[in-house]
Amino acid sequence: MSRLVVVSNRVPVPTEKRPPQGGLAVAVLSALETRGGLWFGWNGKIAEDKSVVRTRYGNVEFATTALSRRDYDDYYRGFSNRVMWPLLHARLERMDYRRSYENGYRRVNQYLASALVPLLRPDDTIWIHDYHLIPLGLELRRAGCRQRIGFFLHTPFPPSDVFRALPHYRSLLMEFGAYDLVGLQTDVDLRGFINSVHYGVPGAKVSMKSVQIGSAPTGVAVFPISIDVDDVAATAAKGRKSSSGRRLLASLSGSDLVMGVDRLDYTKGLVPRFRAFERLLETRPAVRRKVVCLQIAQPSRGDVPGYQQMRRALDAAAGEINGRFAEYDWVPLRYLHKGFSHATILGFLSLARVGLVTPLRDGMNLVAKEFVAAQRPEDPGVLVLSELAGAARELDAAIIVNPYDLDDVADGLAKAIDMPVEERRRRWSAMMKVLRRNDIHRWRRRFLEALEDTRASRIQTLAPSATVGALANVAGPGRQP
Ligand code: G6P
Repeated sequence: MSRLVVVSNRVPVPTEKRPPQGGLAVAVLSALETRGGLWFGWNGKIAEDKSVVRTRYGNVEFATTALSRRDYDDYYRGFSNRVMWPLLHARLERMDYRRSYENGYRRVNQYLASALVPLLRPDDTIWIHDYHLIPLGLELRRAGCRQRIGFFLHTPFPPSDVFRALPHYRSLLMEFGAYDLVGLQTDVDLRGFINSVHYGVPGAKVSMKSVQIGSAPTGVAVFPISIDVDDVAATAAKGRKSSSGRRLLASLSGSDLVMGVDRLDYTKGLVPRFRAFERLLETRPAVRRKVVCLQIAQPSRGDVPGYQQMRRALDAAAGEINGRFAEYDWVPLRYLHKGFSHATILGFLSLARVGLVTPLRDGMNLVAKEFVAAQRPEDPGVLVLSELAGAARELDAAIIVNPYDLDDVADGLAKAIDMPVEERRRRWSAMMKVLRRNDIHRWRRRFLEALEDTRASRIQTLAPSATVGALANVAGPGRQP
């Protein structure tokens, strides 16, 4: 089996004291451990010295580099967070495009390619993650890489009409042609991508399985990311009994817990979620004092303007709702703007009667899946899930709501709170079946197997001597904005 090289913008380097946390990090690390591997990317620091630092954890090697202040501002804070993130979530009013950002995005991808090439072996399998790194495949091809290269997008892919709002969108679409395989979260994203290529790249040939932008087809397929079901269940059971779990339970004094956990991000629909909870209290006086809503909003991208504004809006909404409904011995909404360990969060989720996951748009949303796996089979809680989260395509036994309709969310909450245990068990078992069929290990295996297969057919399409040139030329023009 060839060595696996994973590239992502952020690299969660584990240490003995801080083992890997979270589904994706654990799953990718276990793939790297099985095959031997390398994880490459940004170390999360801003520094002018960008030399690559190499460390090991077991038999996995980590190679990371810092970003200069200018690169951080243009590539990460600018193009990735103020252009690609809103674009991919179809929030064009939040998009703030600047040429300097796009230049920085290409500059950093070129730099990352040049730093990665010397670390590569001829038979490596390279797996690139997320929207920060779309041009990286082509940069590697231009540097002569002939290895298998796959790309997985963790976010949604918007409809072609929305994608066209990105200046120079055609160049970016053409860059996907350097990959052997492009993976997306859902069939909706797949259609958005294929249509964008079809309408956006003259001469491209597309089908539901591939897009041909240059001289060889790029495989495209859906790989819904998932969780390690047993690990989540075991960690949640431990977390429930931990001191924080016991303290949370005691503080509820018998009330039902409605819980949400998200990065503080405008795509998560937190203000409308608070307003929907307020609508519940307003329209159903009987539930007052019987429920407590705990919303954890983990700090994220605090130096990106839209996020600061959103934090203020959330503070104001929480204050208003508690000011309106709280009593001297009951506070309906506990809003925490801070992070907790993954284990603590899973323990909290396992205590919740209702998991409230109502993003306005989300690639998948693993909290929805974790909430289900964290429940106790004999007395499971109910998931209230936005139909605009990728997870809703699989978890259709949840109460599916439209996050733009506050009454719909409030009704969903009321239904969840009142749901008899038989129905809760039935819905939970149906969702667990789905999760067991497609867990994180299967997600990773399916992607890597498909990458192997598409690479083999792609090589057949190209004469061997033409491979590098042909792959490197797929997006020849349009390199500069
Ligand atoms: C989303 C993206 C990830 C990103 C994460 C945290 O889940 O898909 O690629 O790492 O948000 O965002 P941050 O900007 O802090 O890396």
